[in-house]
Amino acid sequence: MNTSLTRLFAHAKQKSEKLAMISLYDAPSATLSCDAGADILLVGDSMGNAILGHDGTVPVTMDAMLHHTGAVVRGVKNSSHPETPVVSDIPFGGFATVERAVENASMLMRAGASAIKLERAGEGTLAAARVLVEMGVPVVGHLGYTPQSAGRFEGVVQGKSTEAATRLLEDAKRLEDAGAFAVVLEVVPTEVAKRTTAELAISTIGIGAGPHCDAQVLVWHDLVGFSEEKPFRFVKQYADVYETMKDASAGFVEEVRSGAFPAPEHGWRMDEEEYRRWENGG
Ligand code: KIV
Repeated sequence: MNTSLTRLFAHAKQKSEKLAMISLYDAPSATLSCDAGADILLVGDSMGNAILGHDGTVPVTMDAMLHHTGAVVRGVKNSSHPETPVVSDIPFGGFATVERAVENASMLMRAGASAIKLERAGEGTLAAARVLVEMGVPVVGHLGYTPQSAGRFEGVVQGKSTEAATRLLEDAKRLEDAGAFAVVLEVVPTEVAKRTTAELAISTIGIGAGPHCDAQVLVWHDLVGFSEEKPFRFVKQYADVYETMKDASAGFVEEVRSGAFPAPEHGWRMDEEEYRRWENGG
């Protein structure tokens, strides 16, 4: 078990210190997020929407998760905080049986992940979580709006009724009993996240769940504004890199067409004498 990761969460909860997690998928964003002080990174299957051009997370494969986990882990190692832990999602269908969960979690850990994340708290997920924890794999749960089962939800916000809020709290406790060290609460009312955080000994990681969670997570592409689309209400955009990058790309296209790029300083010249000899037939 990676005790430094579980200790990081337990210690922060005990001290009421908030942790910041960023979901991202490549080496440069991992390096800069660690340099910026992120406490934990997540290689989320949100990569389906954010970078792979899908309209959900269901098409994301284990091959993609492994490929991007490797990239993020390398990015962390090149940062000023090479010890930053990386959590990786097991994608849709990847923990449908305990055997599959064990195989997939093992591959992600071998790729450098410090922990894995599983969505929902059905019997299958709980059984997988128990076995993984027993093996020494730190497990993060994920409740509320779980994108792998997006088709089952009517609205986005989960846990709004008394019954749904109670179910969510019970599910969180089941995940805790199964050995998870943290649980993501996605798009749930602030009151539900607050009570769940208070009643659990393990940490909650909120996204669209209000300010009371022990940690907060956002997708890096959302927080830097790396998309033309309007972000969800729970996202705060700290920059608008889409416009900056579009302007840079347009500048390149324009200068190629006008001949302004490349300029002499972007190329190399032969030594004058060599050039003369060469022009005169060597
Ligand atoms: O896939 C992801 O990035 C996530 C976070 C949004 C919690 O699950």
